[in-house]
Amino acid sequence: MNSSKDILIIGGGIIGLSLAVELKLRGASVAVLTADSKQPTARAAAGMLAPQAERIPPSPMLDLCLQSRALYPAWVEQLEDITGLKTGYWRSGILAPVCQNEPQEKPLLSNLNYQWLDGDTVRQHQFGLGQEVIGGWWYPDDAQVDNRALFRTLQTATKELQIEIIQGNAGEIIRQGNRVVGIETTSGKLQADRYVVAAGAWSEQLLNVPVFPRKGQMLSVCVPEDCGVIQPLQTVLFGTGIYIVPRQDGRIIIGATSENVDFTPGNTPAGIQSLLAGSIKLYPELQNYPILEFWWGFRPATPDELPILGASAWENLTWATGHYRNGILLAPVTAKLLADLMWEQKLDPLLAAFHYSRFPESGKFENGK
Ligand code: GLY
Repeated sequence: MNSSKDILIIGGGIIGLSLAVELKLRGASVAVLTADSKQPTARAAAGMLAPQAERIPPSPMLDLCLQSRALYPAWVEQLEDITGLKTGYWRSGILAPVCQNEPQEKPLLSNLNYQWLDGDTVRQHQFGLGQEVIGGWWYPDDAQVDNRALFRTLQTATKELQIEIIQGNAGEIIRQGNRVVGIETTSGKLQADRYVVAAGAWSEQLLNVPVFPRKGQMLSVCVPEDCGVIQPLQTVLFGTGIYIVPRQDGRIIIGATSENVDFTPGNTPAGIQSLLAGSIKLYPELQNYPILEFWWGFRPATPDELPILGASAWENLTWATGHYRNGILLAPVTAKLLADLMWEQKLDPLLAAFHYSRFPESGKFENGK
């Protein structure tokens, strides 16, 4: 590849592919560098679109998340039209059960749609909740998408749109003055007019940006055939340190730990035990369901847990990283705002809150490890 490409995106995860598709649809020529050896965080997530259940406080981050949640229906419809595939988007709502001895804190935002359900009402809402559940907050506008199906859909969309995907690991980002002039990779040196770092938890290895891995372990079970229904859970259950995400095909995703263990791979007995105990407490019937799979992923965390979006210290390099717990949710709005910025020179004022310069080391980033 040479500088005939307008934009090279470093990172083929949910953010990189969403941005590539958006830019291509607007007329840009785009390539994506993707590393085979790094499991994309998109695969590891549960796909909750949950700004309210996650209790993001009133802030530009909440505005960004709400904007993205609102973009989701039309965004997935467009991807489904391009590919003929389904993403499993489901406006299932999210129920946040409250157990005995847990605080019943009211959500901070009164202008959003939510409701407190007492012990009887919450059980009418979702049959089979554990005895310790005394009520719950109901967030009807939170939703979910099947993150693996979404990822496959994005991969297929890149093929349909003839976006060049380059397999290889990124090495040194070569700079001259305040411009990036190329990147060394295991597939040779790549050049473009503009570059985007969308390398998730691995971004720091490229440019010493403050993004670090926060590991999440997960597992899935499936509803047994003799249960009488394909899926008895008709909403996401979002508890304290645990969530249970039903899929319409009968799978149930259970997540997730949150561990500062660098890139240590693998599931641990302690991690899985905490997920099993937490989920069975909320929905006891799960203890009888066959286990399908265990896995883990690395969330890209930043010191203030907010993403780093937009301009960098180099005039032709853009950040799209650090989405931490909200990468699946924030994919459409990240793609939209960054395509507006890079392709239309339109700067959304919301991006100011996610500027790299909020970190003291900003502008001094050297190539990472
Ligand atoms: N978005 C949920 C998580 O990161 O575990």
